[in-house]
Amino acid sequence: MNGQSLPRDIQGNPVRVGLPIAMLAELTHRCPLACPYCSNPVELARVAEELTAGEWTAIFRQAAELGVLQVHLSGGEPASRRDLSEIAQGARDAGLYVNLITSGIGLTEARLRELDGLVDHVQLSLQGIDAEMADWISGYGGSFSRKMQVAHWIGEIGFPLTLNAVVHRQNLDRLPEMIALAERLGCRRIEVATVQFHGWANLNRRPLMPTPEQAQRAREVVNEARDRLRGRMVIDYVPADHHATFPKSCMGGWGSTGLNVTPDGIVLPCHAAQTISGLEFENVRDNSLDRIWRDGSAFNAFRGTAWLPEPCASCERREIDFGGCRCQAMAMANDPAATDPVCSRSPLNARLRAEAEAEASSDDIALVYRRMSKEKRT
Ligand code: SF4
Ligand code: FES
Repeated sequence: MNGQSLPRDIQGNPVRVGLPIAMLAELTHRCPLACPYCSNPVELARVAEELTAGEWTAIFRQAAELGVLQVHLSGGEPASRRDLSEIAQGARDAGLYVNLITSGIGLTEARLRELDGLVDHVQLSLQGIDAEMADWISGYGGSFSRKMQVAHWIGEIGFPLTLNAVVHRQNLDRLPEMIALAERLGCRRIEVATVQFHGWANLNRRPLMPTPEQAQRAREVVNEARDRLRGRMVIDYVPADHHATFPKSCMGGWGSTGLNVTPDGIVLPCHAAQTISGLEFENVRDNSLDRIWRDGSAFNAFRGTAWLPEPCASCERREIDFGGCRCQAMAMANDPAATDPVCSRSPLNARLRAEAEAEASSDDIALVYRRMSKEKRT
C-alpha cells in the first residue's frame, strides 16, 4: 500500500513490533438491534462462515501465547451465539480476562448465571435514557425495558458493570441522565463514546452529527461528573472529534496494542479496517495469529512513523496521535495515509468542519438502520 514492507521510524530506523494487549472477538454479526452507528462493517459476515466454539478456543490460546491479556467478546450481539458459554469457557481456560460486550437482548437470568465464573466484566450498551429514545435508536421495540431487566440480573449476580453510552445529536442533551442511570445501576464505569463516523454511522451523518455546542457542553458535563464521582465511578469519554483540535490516537496506534478477529476469522488492526481499500487481510484459519500480527502486510502498513505525510511528519504530536484514525482518513479523504481530516492542521479540516456544521443543523432525522440481508443470515 505504501511501499513499505517493515515498519520504520521517521529517520528510517526499523521499529520493533510490540505485543497486543487486547483482542476484540466479534463472535457473530447477528444482532436483534439495528443501531444506525453500528461499528460492524456494512458488508456483514455470513452466519454459515462463523468460527466454531472450538476454533475460538484455539484462537484464544494463540492470543494468550502472543501476549494478549484481555478479550472482549463482542458482535453483533454475542448472546446470539447459543454456544456463548462454551466460547467464554475457552477464553477463561486460556487465562484471559474476559469482558462481555452486549446489548443485553438475548440474555436471560439463566444464561447470565451460566456465564458467572467465565466472564470477569460486562459492558452493557445504552442507546437512550428512556424507552422512546432507546427503542427508536436501536430499531427494536421493548429493548430498553429488557436491558434494564438484564442490568438488574447483572447486579444481582455481581458482575462488575460498565454502561456503554453511544452519544450523538439525538441523545447528547440527556448525558447527565445517562450518568445518573449508571450511578443508580451501581456501575463501576460509564463509557461515553461519541459516534465515530465510518461504516454505518457514515450513512447517518445528518441525524447523528452533534452540534459544536453539544460537544462543548458534553465536555463540561463529563468534567463536572468526574469531579463529583471521583473514587466511585470512572467516566471514559470519547469526544466528538469533528469539533476537536486534534484527533485521537486511534487504537493507541495502528498495530501497536490491539487486534480484532471477525466472525469468519479475518484478523484486523481495528474494527473498521476493512473499509480501507488496498489492504490485504489474512484469516486465522490459514495463518497463525502470531504470524499475522508480526508480519501481516495490513498490520505493518501504518506501523512506525516513516509512512506519515506532512504536516504529521514534522509535527510534535506525531508520536502522540500517529496522525489520527486511518479509517476516518479513508472515509473523508479517500486516502488511508492522509492526516486525519479531523485534525485542525489537516488541509481538509476547514471543509470537514463546514460539512459537520451543516450536517449538525440538518432537520433530517431519518435513520438508516443496520440490517443483515436475508442471504447473510444462513
Ligand atoms: Fe496529529 Fe498529524 Fe495533526 Fe500533528 S498534524 S496533531 S501528528 S494528526
Ligand atoms: Fe480504524 Fe481508527 S477505526 S484506525
